[in-house]
Amino acid sequence: MEKQGNVSSGAGFVLQMRGISKEFPGVKALESMELSVRPGTVHALVGENGAGKSTLMKCLFGMYAVDAGEIILDGEPVKFANPAEALKRHVSMVHQELNQVPRQTVMENIWLGRYPVKSGFVDEKKMLGDTQKIFESLNINVDPRVESGDLPVSQKQMVEIAKAVSYNAKVIVMDEPTSSLTEKEVEHLFAIMEKLKANNTSIIYISHKLEEILRISDDVTVMRDGKWIATKAAGDITIDEMIKLMVGRDLTERYPEKKAVPGEVLLSVEDLACSEFSGVSFELHKNEILGIAGLVGSKRTEVLETIFGMRQVKSGRIVLEGRELHNKNPLTAMKNGFAMLTEERRHDGIFSGLSVTFNLIISNIKAYAKKLFLNNRMIVSDVDSMIASMNIKTPDRNAAIGNLSGGNQQKVIFGRWLLTKPKVLLLDEPTRGVDVGAKYEIYQLINRLAEEGRGVIIVSSEMPELFGVCDRILTMSNGRLSGIFDAKDVSQVEIMEASVLYL
Ligand SMILES: Nc1ncnc2c1ncn2[C@@H]1O[C@H](COP(=O)(O)OP(=O)(O)OP(=O)(O)O)[C@@H](O)[C@H]1O
Ligand SMILES: [Mg+2]
Repeated sequence: MEKQGNVSSGAGFVLQMRGISKEFPGVKALESMELSVRPGTVHALVGENGAGKSTLMKCLFGMYAVDAGEIILDGEPVKFANPAEALKRHVSMVHQELNQVPRQTVMENIWLGRYPVKSGFVDEKKMLGDTQKIFESLNINVDPRVESGDLPVSQKQMVEIAKAVSYNAKVIVMDEPTSSLTEKEVEHLFAIMEKLKANNTSIIYISHKLEEILRISDDVTVMRDGKWIATKAAGDITIDEMIKLMVGRDLTERYPEKKAVPGEVLLSVEDLACSEFSGVSFELHKNEILGIAGLVGSKRTEVLETIFGMRQVKSGRIVLEGRELHNKNPLTAMKNGFAMLTEERRHDGIFSGLSVTFNLIISNIKAYAKKLFLNNRMIVSDVDSMIASMNIKTPDRNAAIGNLSGGNQQKVIFGRWLLTKPKVLLLDEPTRGVDVGAKYEIYQLINRLAEEGRGVIIVSSEMPELFGVCDRILTMSNGRLSGIFDAKDVSQVEIMEASVLYL
């Protein structure tokens, strides 16, 4: 494999990371990793879950000390002992896990630790003005005075980006910034990135959305197992080539073949309404995978939440295997045979300091109860088979989940629900933040569940995914059901049309 034209020369780069190695107990996260970023460009960093992308960036940002290697910023070797030092040198980072203080306002979060002061007091007026100036320049429409905790994830994301920009950054790391953004918000982010580029800021961009990567980036570096694999101009590489470099083999099929044919009716939802939507009726069959498409705000998630007892039913019926149910809360829903993977699982579902085992079995703990004790052998066997079948990258089952890469944490949460052996599985954006290889594994798992006679409902914003895995696709538009289609007989255009029907 060859390096990009002038990678090794050292000239013409705002940032170079050379020979970076980093080991955690039991894990070689980085091994002689290389990254060279040109000024005023978007440099994408791609690789499978656990490849070491976030770790490399945390080394850059002073969160981890490297074991070996050097970092050269503007031609000068640097060593940041902590993020504050990196920020001082205009290197900033938007993290994969958002970590704003919920009880503080947006502007307090942005200027945390460096509030403007006037005669001994925090100068709120200046803080507001400064924040507004940045928001305006980036076209961000958020009130700086509201509490961060009240914002939807996408806006929190925007605030994080504004914060990164506020340090006059010349290098901004964005670790999966678009994973929870709508298409429109992604366009907005890309416009912001173009502006930053024009300002000669460089952006290191981490994402699993390969189409987006080719669109926005100038250069692409592929890493695998902590190692540098290739650096190419975005114009010189295709998605398939990128995937091949990432996984180290050909991945010809992006979706596994579904063999199970839908059987008898499992669940019927009759004229369901809650405060957010009304008139939703459909049937879900055994062995069936039903997709829900729609624009963001069409209340797709709310439909799942209502079925799962997270929202109050206003009218209508939910009938499982001929019996009407009242899922008053998620616990009742679980007892009734439902499981739900929420969209914000990274925030909702993870017990960060606890083990992979604990995080896998917590929703199913009763199944392991043996008088006063837990059936350890059963736990170990279930946990190990989950780790193997989902290919969860972890040193062992006792490792703290917080130390796993973002995508691997997701697989654990997914596995948690699979272990409850639900009759109906509700999945909200199940492959968000998951790499191509793991996506395929998740699709295979979903197929297997369907083959076992379960019913699966998937909300997804990725149209190819809905077409790739679903038997039927239901569309929501503005809080109403606007169509149900056989996935084989419908086009993407028809789904789009149905999605905007009631706008
Ligand atoms: N603090 C830590 N302690 C122990 N192991 C860690 C720690 N941080 C990361 N690792 C391990 O290092 C490897 C690389 O993880 P990293 O988070 O960098 O992957 P990634 O490429 O960002 O993946 P993803 O796409 O899933 O976010 C993984 O095997 C992970 O489990
Ligand atoms: Mg990561």
